[in-house]
Amino acid sequence: MKITLTINGKRRIVDVEPNDYLLDTLHHMGYISVRRGCDTTSCGVCTVLLDGKPVPSCSVLTIRLSDRQITTVEGIQEEAERLSEYFGAEGADQCGYCNPGLALAVHALKHENPHPTMDEIKNYLVANLCRCTGYVAQHKAIRDYLEDEEA
Ligand code: FES
Ligand code: FES
Repeated sequence: MKITLTINGKRRIVDVEPNDYLLDTLHHMGYISVRRGCDTTSCGVCTVLLDGKPVPSCSVLTIRLSDRQITTVEGIQEEAERLSEYFGAEGADQCGYCNPGLALAVHALKHENPHPTMDEIKNYLVANLCRCTGYVAQHKAIRDYLEDEEA
């Protein structure tokens, strides 16, 4: 059936099956920045924002999303680029596979809690796994980024 999705502020008509997941729909539409990892709601690399909140797109049925705002990293491009400079400065930019989902989660954190403590950063990002960095450099980069964004 045809439904209208709102992705990064643009309305798009898509043909979906009742059991299509958002990750697959987005890939079919060309949003390949949304990564596939575990496909079982465990790794967070497929994170997108739904009405501003991070969700694993591999576990959300597309057919339920006609009235929702979907954001991929293309929708926060400038912010993601600024954040990546902080990752680079901390040596936290390795394979980069987790970065789009992480950037979206950081965007959501910034809006929910602009001045988080390091523990609050770690807790908020607990669902965004990274196989490369060991997290310490990532979290430090995110803390520095959020501090400078709010300065
Ligand atoms: S691919 Fe969705 S949580 Fe891992
Ligand atoms: S940098 Fe490789 S998975 Fe995070």
